[in-house]
Amino acid sequence: MKQLKCAVIGLGMGRHHVKAFHDHPNSTVVALVDLDEKRLQDIGDQHEIPNRYQSVDELFAGEQLDIVSIATPNSLHKPIALQAFEHGAHVFCEKPVALNAQEAEEMIAAAKKADRRLMINFSYRFNPTSWALKQQVESGAIGDVYAGRSRWLRRDGMPGFGGWFGKKSLAGGGPLIDLGVHRLDLALWLMEYPKPNYVLATSSNVLGKQKADAAQKEFDVEDFASAQITFENGASLQIEASWMGHIKEETMETTLLGNKGGLSQNNIDGTYDFRSFLYTDSHGSKLDIEIKGGTQGPLSGMHHFVDCIIEDRPHTATAAEGLLVMKLLDAIYLSAASGEPVKLN
Ligand SMILES: NC(=O)c1ccc[n+]([C@@H]2O[C@H](COP(=O)([O-])OP(=O)(O)OC[C@H]3O[C@@H](n4cnc5c(N)ncnc54)[C@H](O)[C@@H]3O)[C@@H](O)[C@H]2O)c1
Repeated sequence: MKQLKCAVIGLGMGRHHVKAFHDHPNSTVVALVDLDEKRLQDIGDQHEIPNRYQSVDELFAGEQLDIVSIATPNSLHKPIALQAFEHGAHVFCEKPVALNAQEAEEMIAAAKKADRRLMINFSYRFNPTSWALKQQVESGAIGDVYAGRSRWLRRDGMPGFGGWFGKKSLAGGGPLIDLGVHRLDLALWLMEYPKPNYVLATSSNVLGKQKADAAQKEFDVEDFASAQITFENGASLQIEASWMGHIKEETMETTLLGNKGGLSQNNIDGTYDFRSFLYTDSHGSKLDIEIKGGTQGPLSGMHHFVDCIIEDRPHTATAAEGLLVMKLLDAIYLSAASGEPVKLN
C-alpha cells in the first residue's frame, strides 16, 4: 500500500496532526517545521521524526512531500499553502482557511492550477455525534430545516492571551474566526450548505480591551460576536462566539429546527463531551431520542484526508465550503462594523 509522505508545519494544534498522520497505516510524517526549537525537538523525539526545520523554505528545499499540513497562525496559511501547491503537495489546512475570503480564493486557484487537494480542518465535524447527526439529516429525520442556532461561548478562554490570536493582522479576527468558525461550519454542513442571502451582525471588545489594557498587551479583535444569517431557501441561522463573558461555563450548542423534527448538540457541563438529541413526534406523541456517536465516521480529518487520497474519492470539509465560511465571516465583520445588513452575492 502507498505511504504518503507528510510534513506538519506549526506544532501547537499541529501536534495532533503529527499523531494522526503518523498513526494512519498509509501515511508517515517525514518532517516537522516550527520556529520554536523546543517544540520541534520534543515532538520530533516523541514520534521519532528525523527531519526538523525552522523554516518553510528549508523544508521544501529538503523534502519531496505528498501532504503538507498547516497549523500555523492564520496569516501564514495562504503563503505556506501556495508554496506547498508549487511543490506539488496536497494541503491539509487548519481552520479558518485564511484571513479572509480573498486569500481563500487565491488558495483555491493555486490548488486548481497544481491539480492538488485542499481540505480544511473543520474538526468538530469529526466528533462521532456530529457524524451521527449528519446521518439523521440525510435520512430525512428532521425534514426541511427552517431555522438554526449555533454558538460557542467561553467564560474566560482566550487562547494565548497577549499573543497572535488577539492581533487582527495575524488572526483575521477574534472568537468568531477562532471558535465561531467551527459552529458555523457544523450548522452549515448539517443544513447542507444553503446559499446565504443576508447577514446582520454585532460585536464587542469591551472585556478583551479592558483585560489587555490592564496587562499592557495588544488586542485589536472582538471578544464577542453575534449574527443572524438568512439563506436563499428561506432558512435562517443565529451564530454567537465569545472568548470571555459573565456566563456560568463554556457553552457549545448547535440546534436545528425542521418541519419534521429538530436536532441539538450540546456540550456537557462546560466540558468537551457532547450529548445530541433528535426531537420529533409520532402518532401524536412527542419523542426525544438520544443520538449516540458510533464508529461510523472517520477518526479525524487527517485520517479522512489520507483515506480519500489513497482511495481516490472526494473528501469532506472542502475548500469551497471553507470559502463560503470565509465569505460569511467577512460579511459578519463588515456588518458589525457598519451596523448595516450585508447582502451576499
Ligand atoms: N481545529 C481545531 O480544533 C483547532 C484548535 C486549535 C487551533 N487551531 C488552528 O491551528 C492553527 C494554530 O493554532 P495553535 O493554537 O496551534 O497556535 P500556537 O500559537 O499554539 O501554535 C502555532 C505554532 O506555529 C509556529 N509558527 C509560527 N510561525 C511559524 C513559521 N513561520 N514557520 C513555522 N512555524 C511557525 C509557532 O512557533 C507555534 O509553535 C490556527 O490556525 C488555529 O486556528 C485549530
